[in-house]
Amino acid sequence: MPPFRPIGPGERIMLVDSKMRRYLVTMVPGSQFHTHAGIVDHDAIIGQDEGRTIEGSTGRSFTVLRPTLADIVVKMPRGAQVIYPKDLGAILMAADIGPGMRVLEAGVGSGALSMTLVRAGASVLGYELREDFAERARLNVVAMLGEDIDYNIEIRDVTEGIDETGLDRILLDMPEPWNVVHHAAKALRPGGIFLAYLPTINQTAQFRAALESRHFALAETVEILRRSWHIEARSVRPDHRMVAHTGFLTTARLLSNESETLNP
Ligand SMILES: C[S@@+](CC[C@H](N)C(=O)[O-])C[C@H]1O[C@@H](n2cnc3c(N)ncnc32)[C@H](O)[C@@H]1O
Repeated sequence: MPPFRPIGPGERIMLVDSKMRRYLVTMVPGSQFHTHAGIVDHDAIIGQDEGRTIEGSTGRSFTVLRPTLADIVVKMPRGAQVIYPKDLGAILMAADIGPGMRVLEAGVGSGALSMTLVRAGASVLGYELREDFAERARLNVVAMLGEDIDYNIEIRDVTEGIDETGLDRILLDMPEPWNVVHHAAKALRPGGIFLAYLPTINQTAQFRAALESRHFALAETVEILRRSWHIEARSVRPDHRMVAHTGFLTTARLLSNESETLNP
C-alpha cells in the first residue's frame, strides 16, 4: 500500500467523534453516515487525505482515519468473543509467527486471531465447529485483507484429529485444548510451537498437565495486563477502569520423539 493516498470509494474508514467514540464506515459515493452527533456525507470524505477533521450536519467534528488492525478487531461484527489486541500482539511473539509459517488455528470464531496471523504473513488453516462462525470469520478477514490471502477454514472438530503434518504452529482458542494435545504432538514438526488461549486457570492447569504427558517442553503460561493512563495537565495517573482479565496464554514446544524431555 502506498504511504499516502486519498481515501477512495469502497474503503473502510474510522470516524472519531469529540468524545473519542469510534465508528467504522465503508465509503459509498452519495451515502450518508448517521450518528446521534449528526450526519456525515461520505462524499465529504472520499478524495480527502486521512487525518482530516470534517464537520457533520450539527457542526460537531469528526476525525477521519484509516483503522488499525486493533481498531478493526474491537469494532468488527462478531459471532464469538474475539481475542483482545493486547493478547493478539503477545500471541504473535509467543508463537513466533512469521511469513510463510504453516499455522493451524482452532476455533476461528470471529476471525480476530486469523486476521492477525494472516497479516503477519502466515499460511493459516482454521478448524471451526460452527458454519456461521466460519463464514463470519472469513468475511471479517477478507474485509480486512482482501481476497488474495492464504487463509482456509474447514468445518470440523479439532478434538477429533488433525489431518495436516509438519505444521510450524498450532494455536487454540477453544474450551478443551487438553483433548487436542495428542493430535498436536503428531501434527507439529519437531520444535513447533503449540499455544492455547484460555479464560480460566483451571482450564490452563488441565492443559499444562496434558502437555506433560507428551513430548512438549519449555511450557510457559503468561497473562497480559495492560493499564492505560489518564494524562491531562496536572492530572497524570492510571485510568480508573481497565480490562482486568481476558485470558491465559500457554505455549510449549514439541520435542522430537528421540529427545529427552526438558520439563523438570
Ligand atoms: C472464543 S471463539 C474463538 C475466537 C477467535 N480466536 C477470535 O479471535 O475471533 C471459540 C471458537 O471455537 C470454536 N470451537 C469450540 N470447540 C471447537 C472444536 N472442538 N473444534 C473446532 N472449533 C471449536 C467455537 O465454535 C468458537 O467459534
